[in-house]
Amino acid sequence: MTDKAPRLDVDRLLDDPRTRIIVCCGSGGVGKTTTAAALGLRAAERGRHVVVLTVDPARRLAQSMGLSKLDNTPRPVPLPDDAQADGSLHAMMLDMKRTFDEIVEGHSDPDRAEQILANPFYQSLSSSFAGTQEYMAMEKLGQLRRTDQWDLIVVDTPPSRSALDFLDAPQRLSRFLDGRLIKLLTAPTRAGGRAYLKVVNAGFGMLTNVVTRVIGAQVLRDVQTFVAAFDTMFGGFRERAEDTYRLLQTPGTAFLVVATPEPDALREASYFVERLSQDRMPLAGLILNRVHRSPAARLSAARSLAAAEALQPAGAPAGSPPVSHNGNTGEPAEATRYPLVASALRLHAERMQLIAAERRLAQSFTAAHPGVPVAKVPAQPEDVHDLIGLHAIGESLRAS
Ligand SMILES: Nc1ncnc2c1ncn2[C@@H]1O[C@H](COP(=O)(O)OP(=O)(O)OP(=O)(O)O)[C@@H](O)[C@H]1O
Ligand SMILES: [Mg+2]
Repeated sequence: MTDKAPRLDVDRLLDDPRTRIIVCCGSGGVGKTTTAAALGLRAAERGRHVVVLTVDPARRLAQSMGLSKLDNTPRPVPLPDDAQADGSLHAMMLDMKRTFDEIVEGHSDPDRAEQILANPFYQSLSSSFAGTQEYMAMEKLGQLRRTDQWDLIVVDTPPSRSALDFLDAPQRLSRFLDGRLIKLLTAPTRAGGRAYLKVVNAGFGMLTNVVTRVIGAQVLRDVQTFVAAFDTMFGGFRERAEDTYRLLQTPGTAFLVVATPEPDALREASYFVERLSQDRMPLAGLILNRVHRSPAARLSAARSLAAAEALQPAGAPAGSPPVSHNGNTGEPAEATRYPLVASALRLHAERMQLIAAERRLAQSFTAAHPGVPVAKVPAQPEDVHDLIGLHAIGESLRAS
C-alpha cells in the first residue's frame, strides 16, 4: 500500500499556457470559492489574464474583490502593487437568473423574449429548478470561453449535494424539458387546435384535467406557453451544454477537487475523483484545504501528554492561581506555574492528535487514489476575506 501522494505542482499548472480552464469542485463549505479566487489571483500575479467565475462568495470576500453587484459581468480586480508580471484579474459572481434571462434574450425575438421572461413558470424554473445554478455555471463558462478575452478561466462551482451536479445539470435540464409530462402538457399547443381536439377525444383531456386539478389551470397554461416558446431555442440550449461538456474534457481543462481533511469531505472527494474519471474529465489533483500544522511538531502527543501528567496529574485541581510573568524575580512557586504549562502541553497534544488523524485520512485517500497529486493549504488563523488572505493561500499552495 502506498500512502505518499505525488505533489501537485500548482505553479506549473498556472504557468502552463495550455491550461485554459480550472474548475474547483468539492462538497459544501470545503473552500471551493476561496481556492478558486486564490488560484485566480496567483495566476494573475504570475502574468496570466484571468477571469474567476465565483458562485455565492462570502460578502466580505466579494467586496474585497470589487464585486458589490450581481451584474453578471466580469469586473477588474486591482492587483497588489508588488505583483511582478503584467497579468490581469477579473472576477464575477454568477447570477443564475440573469444568465438564464440572457440566454432567452439572445435566442428569441424581443416580443417572444418578453413573453417568456414574464411567464411565472419560467420565473420559478429559472430561479429554483434543482440544477439550474449548475447549469448556468456551465452556460456562463461557455460564454466566457467563447469571448476569448481571457487566457485562463477559473471556475468555482455551487455547493453540490451530490458529487458533480455540475456535470449532470445540462442533461437533467434536457431530460426535464424532454420529459413525458412536459410533452403531454404541451402537445395541444404544439399540435394546434384541430389535433388538440383529437387528442382530447383520445382521453388526453382526462389527464389534463387531473393535472389541472393538481397543479392549477393557470400554472398549466403557464407551462404550456413557456415550453412552446422555449421549444425553438431548446435545440441550441442542449447543443451548447454539450459543447461546454466536451470543452471540459479537453486537455486545456484542469479539475481540482477541493476537500478538507475530514471523513465526509474526503469521501465526497473520492466520489468526485471517480466520477471525473468515468466522464473522462482531466483531473489535475486534490487541494487539501484547512490542514492543521504545529510549530512544535517534534514534540509528540504522547510525550506532551506525559509531561503534562507529570506536572499536573489529571486529578489535580484545575483552577490555576495567577502566574508571575517574570520567572526570575519573586518566587513564582513552581506549582502555580505548572497548571498553565500543563494545559499548554495538553493543547499541544490535542493538536498533534488532530494532525495525526488528518494525516491518516489523507493517506487513506491516497491509498485509494494513488495517482492523484495533492497540494495542501494550511488552516489560516481566521477566515479568508481579502486579497491579502487570498495571496497567502496562493503562497502556501506553492510551498505545499
Ligand atoms: N485555508 C483556510 N483557512 C481558514 N479559513 C478558510 C480556509 N479556506 C476557506 N476558509 C473559510 O471557510 C469558509 C468557507 O470557504 P468557501 O466559501 O471558500 O467554501 P465553499 O466550498 O466555496 O463553500 P460553499 O460550498 O458554501 O460554496 C469561508 O469563511 C472561508 O473564509
Ligand atoms: Mg462557494
